[in-house]
Amino acid sequence: MTRQALNRYSLLVVGLLLLSTPIWAQPANPQRGEALYVGTVSFAEGGAPCLACHGIAGHELGYAAGANYGPDLTAIYEDYGEEGVAGVLEDLSFESMNAIFAERPLSDSERADLVAFFGAVSGGAAPGIGSDLVLHVALVTAVFMVLIGALGWRRLQGVRKPLVEQARNTKGGRA
Ligand code: HEC
Repeated sequence: MTRQALNRYSLLVVGLLLLSTPIWAQPANPQRGEALYVGTVSFAEGGAPCLACHGIAGHELGYAAGANYGPDLTAIYEDYGEEGVAGVLEDLSFESMNAIFAERPLSDSERADLVAFFGAVSGGAAPGIGSDLVLHVALVTAVFMVLIGALGWRRLQGVRKPLVEQARNTKGGRA
């Protein structure tokens, strides 16, 4: 191989490497993080999807009011910050999760995608089921009372009218 050819060859190799850069240096992707979280994309090592145990009420995932096995993670990013969440995901040292993830650790990119996803959903307002329920009950009660009122009044009229007429006809009962 001549020197020139070698130079050209190495240029080609460098060029190809540069072109392929995005494949191995992908920025954290919150959509992929969500897919991993809910389980539509599997973790490379086969760990269980987080949604199996954790809801994110602020993103309408999981059961209402955090009725899940693990704590709701809506505010995890706010509470721990980016570094904090990344740290928790790195060692997943909670007893209940360790059983799964000690043998099936998350990869660097999986962790980064999850952190990006938590960042994207952070600050999502958890639906206030409490206040909605109160409003609902108040509305239904109001409608019910109006109905009872209207029906009750008509019923009263229905009873009263013939009595009044009867009383009139019979001059108050003294025929
Ligand atoms: C088998 C059920 C289970 C799975 C699957 C699971 N977790 Fe957990 N996780 C828990 C439980 C339960 C806790 C509460 C701590 C404890 O009791 O060990 C917890 C705690 C946490 C905490 C700390 C919460 C806090 O408020 O301090 C984070 C963050 C977390 N999990 C993230 C994840 C992520 C991300 C995944 C998916 C990669 C995941 N978990 C998968 C059960 C699970």
